[in-house]
Amino acid sequence: MLNFVIDREKCTKCGDCIKDCPVEIIKLSAEYPFINDNDEDNCIKCQHCFTICEPGAISILGLKPDDSIPLKDHLPNGEQMECLIKGRRSVRHYKDEPVDSAVITHLLKIVASGPVNMNKQLLFTVVEDQETMQKVRHDTMKGIKEALVTSNLPSGSEFFSSILDKWDDGKDIVFRHAPHLLIVSSPTDGPSPEADAIIALSYFELLAQSYGIGTQWSNLADWAIATILPDLKSRLNIPESYTTGYMMLFGKPAVKYHRTVQRSDANISRVVWND
Ligand SMILES: Cc1cc2nc3c(=O)[nH]c(=O)nc-3n(C[C@H](O)[C@H](O)[C@H](O)COP(=O)(O)O)c2cc1C
Ligand code: SF4
Ligand code: SF4
Repeated sequence: MLNFVIDREKCTKCGDCIKDCPVEIIKLSAEYPFINDNDEDNCIKCQHCFTICEPGAISILGLKPDDSIPLKDHLPNGEQMECLIKGRRSVRHYKDEPVDSAVITHLLKIVASGPVNMNKQLLFTVVEDQETMQKVRHDTMKGIKEALVTSNLPSGSEFFSSILDKWDDGKDIVFRHAPHLLIVSSPTDGPSPEADAIIALSYFELLAQSYGIGTQWSNLADWAIATILPDLKSRLNIPESYTTGYMMLFGKPAVKYHRTVQRSDANISRVVWND
């Protein structure tokens, strides 16, 4: 049941909801928008109708317009976004203290509002507990050590021996001593599970930085865990039917950056077909 309700006092009959519904199921009846019972299953629950209606005349899925944040005067401007994107850094030094659980929930609830192909529900696997994080760290390094001793490391990954030397000296190059790990997974039967998960992590990265929380994409941890600890997925309660996109370390940064990066120009290829 979509619970598509129009407040006739507020509806100006502008037709915006009808034009913007991507699956074209909103019709006009007695001049007011409505959705036929037979069409309800085609709704992709995108909330476009709900968010485009300027007077807030639409309620769908039990949502109330007044519970949304109005966009006017609340969106960050271009300069603020530029500063966030260019000012965001990979954080490789973390304070030895966890991020508040309520803050993590708040961030993930916001990230869950991002785009997901066909609105599949993502799974956010967070290692919040410090003891568990320590075990993930130790099991991974132990696995790498065993693979190295038995010459079981795939070719190209010999650099892990230097990482192990540093680990023995108390330096954690793989997990950067980060207090937390976030893995995003998406149902494998969706059209683009990897992309869905990576988009969510990209949103998390920027959002986290705006809350003073540092992040680091971790190719090393992703590779090591996938190669060395294939049973980790089930130990982290990630269902077999989910594709894990990637993983990200995060925590309170022990470093502070003072200016944006200045990278080289974007490599842009503009294509014109003349035939
Ligand atoms: C997909 C991905 C995987 C990464 N994996 C690692 C990693 O395993 N270890 C590491 O120190 N940095 C890793 N990085 C961080 C990059 O080295 C970093 O983004 C790049 O040097 C630019 O620096 P910045 O993120 O501070 O702007 C990764 C970045 C991305 C996007
Ligand atoms: S967008 Fe809102 S005001 Fe416009 S027709 Fe739809 S319900 Fe009515
Ligand atoms: S939620 Fe999206 S798909 Fe469903 S009726 Fe509204 S606009 Fe159409």
